[in-house]
Amino acid sequence: MKIMSFKKFIPKPIRRIALRMLNHIQLLNYYFKDMNRYSKHSFDFSNSKAKRHHETDLIYYYHKIEKGLSLPNPRIGFGQKVVNHLLSILNHYIKQYGWDNVSIAALNTLYSYYYFNEKNDLRLNELLNKLEELSKTIDAISRPTVGGIDEVKKVDIDKSNIDFKEFAFSRYSIRNYAPGNVSIDLIKEAVYIAQKTPSVCNRQPWRVYVYSNEEDKINILKYQNGNVGFGDGASKILIVTSELKDFRGPRERNQSYIDGGMYSMSLIYALHSLGVGSCALNLAVSPQTETELKNTANISESEVLIMMIAVGNLPKKLNVASSPRRAVEDVIAIN
Ligand SMILES: Cc1cc2nc3c(=O)[nH]c(=O)nc-3n(C[C@H](O)[C@H](O)[C@H](O)COP(=O)(O)O)c2cc1C
Repeated sequence: MKIMSFKKFIPKPIRRIALRMLNHIQLLNYYFKDMNRYSKHSFDFSNSKAKRHHETDLIYYYHKIEKGLSLPNPRIGFGQKVVNHLLSILNHYIKQYGWDNVSIAALNTLYSYYYFNEKNDLRLNELLNKLEELSKTIDAISRPTVGGIDEVKKVDIDKSNIDFKEFAFSRYSIRNYAPGNVSIDLIKEAVYIAQKTPSVCNRQPWRVYVYSNEEDKINILKYQNGNVGFGDGASKILIVTSELKDFRGPRERNQSYIDGGMYSMSLIYALHSLGVGSCALNLAVSPQTETELKNTANISESEVLIMMIAVGNLPKKLNVASSPRRAVEDVIAIN
């Protein structure tokens, strides 16, 4: 009350300047906290490396090779420095963690690299020996064939016969749900589809947290400011996050949001394709709210929050916000 009456005596332009200054200070504070978090968890800055760091390092390097192999005319013997480095980190990884999908994909990529060169009369015998030595430690039966390159045919990947326009235009943010549970199997299927989302060097930093229990949903939704009047009707609340351990160096500081955002869109489309209604819910929150939400939702400090997604069954008939879009001419810059 006292502040209110005091405010009356400060001229509006001064109040505006003071508010702008306060916002700047807060922005600086938030950026500083973001920077600290990024330097604490991301690959290059972190002092101690977790398994996830090593996983991501393998993916980073084997992706350079698989990408090289997929070019129209790969240079024979390309990238030997990368290959040697990959071999070295793969050896360390195997000693520490053993074989898993990531290390096997790295090994198979190195084999693909060897066979590509062999086919072109470059026999990298030393590489082959090292690969054979490493392979001896894998259980041959459980060895998946992932990694390297896959040959695909235009007839199989040209999906221009699918009416994506119709599909995209039939998706709305759903804020009105029919009663009933959306099964965890449907959510898993949507996540499976969304896994095909592209990401920088295929690092797949995302994670999806699923909350079905009424109490959990209420506790989580209270940290979100845009779900009033419909959030509590959702069958499930999802939280999409992105793992900072998967990123490296100053230039990738914002990459977690890009990959996480792309993934979220895929997930929303995947849910739509399964007949499930969803509404993205912003997580534009202060660092303090972020920490509180993470504690409540059991999310690790090294992940950034991308968004919540409210999920529910579609009612027979409902109102949706029309949310008109800008004209194509307003968003396209043809050069
Ligand atoms: C990142 C993000 C955050 C959003 N946050 C909210 C929110 O907090 N509450 C809400 O009702 N809708 C939210 N939306 C939904 C948008 O309002 C909606 O996507 C937009 O109006 C376009 O409408 P449409 O999704 O029906 O096409 C969000 C959407 C995105 C992508």
